Amino acid sequence: MTVPPADPIAFSRPWFDEKEAAAVGEALRGHVSGDGPIGRRVEARLAAQFGGTRVLLTTSGTHALELALLALGVGPGQEVICPSFTFVSSANAVLRVGARPVFADIEDRTLGLDPADVEPRVTPRTVALLPVHYAGVAPDMGALLDLARRRGLRVVEDAAQGLAATWRGRALGTLGDAGCLSFHETKNITCGEGGALLVGDPELARRAEIAREKGTNRAAFFRGEVDKYTWVAEGSSYVLSDVLAALLDAQLDKLAEIQRRRAATVARYREGLASWAAERGVRLPSELPERGPNHHVFFLLYPDARRRDAALRSLRAQGVMATFHYVPLHSAPHARRIGVDVELPVTDRVAATLLRLPLHPLLSAGEVDRVIAAVCETGSGG
Ligand SMILES: Cc1ncc(COP(=O)(O)O)c(C=O)c1O
Repeated sequence: MTVPPADPIAFSRPWFDEKEAAAVGEALRGHVSGDGPIGRRVEARLAAQFGGTRVLLTTSGTHALELALLALGVGPGQEVICPSFTFVSSANAVLRVGARPVFADIEDRTLGLDPADVEPRVTPRTVALLPVHYAGVAPDMGALLDLARRRGLRVVEDAAQGLAATWRGRALGTLGDAGCLSFHETKNITCGEGGALLVGDPELARRAEIAREKGTNRAAFFRGEVDKYTWVAEGSSYVLSDVLAALLDAQLDKLAEIQRRRAATVARYREGLASWAAERGVRLPSELPERGPNHHVFFLLYPDARRRDAALRSLRAQGVMATFHYVPLHSAPHARRIGVDVELPVTDRVAATLLRLPLHPLLSAGEVDRVIAAVCETGSGG
């Protein structure tokens, strides 16, 4: 009798059940466009979680970044320093508002912006830093915030991966002038596509609220502050539908359990892989001081690209949907088109040697053990 092959182990899967279905069903009976009662309730819920900072739900994390830069007035002739080891949206948002992304290298320790490499790239045109909390881990925010203060720069945090993670006890997304979250399918909680902008300064929040509503004062009108709404600034359509806000509300109910399950998976990976990794010169994610993790990503850093690529092929052949990322932005085709010419050695090395293992709240302990066995089977080559 032949044993049927085991089902592939998904890299990422949202945990939706009858709770989300009921929440969406209920939402469909009411206000379905954006900034309605459900959206506002979810914003208030998130705001409470973020210590009272203003939260604006958006159609995506990408749009939260664009909205932050738009509200800050970043535009043509200006530069924003961001990592190259990130998702395309960090740089695209800068381009969308007409400014120029300037890529800096990352630190080996945090895989986030390296302040020592950022400082020499500051020019009279630099207006903002855009640090990314890769894997929910803050870079050296002490040094980056200090640099921003000394040089008069704004700080927009790309906290797309940062929900529920902290730096010095403070929530990621609340450290700079603006923070941007993502609720994309791959994130710890999701509404399919969605995001949020966090802003502490009420004046900046007011500008963002207008830009989010096609450049109108519609939100102030809904609050009864003006008797008609009209075009008051440049803007776009960045408001999340209440149907998706309802989905997000149901996911927020599950956040604690999702975090518990992700933490358990990460602990099992660590325990199962620690001695194998030490013997093979493979690095596991560091547990860094001053940082509260959110278990968004579990990665392996192989000693070289050849061994990483071989491991990726072998894992996939064994039905483990591991992945790599990122193709560094500074070496991507569009970077060449816009004249980017920079060397970022840590970025290149990390991007060539990093492999991500499946991590989601529906992974069973048995599946985690299968992944561990497949990784060890793969070895790190010779
Ligand atoms: C670092 C980073 N920035 C920005 C984004 C963009 O978020 P979204 O997919 O919600 O537009 C993502 C996620 O996809 C991300 O991981």
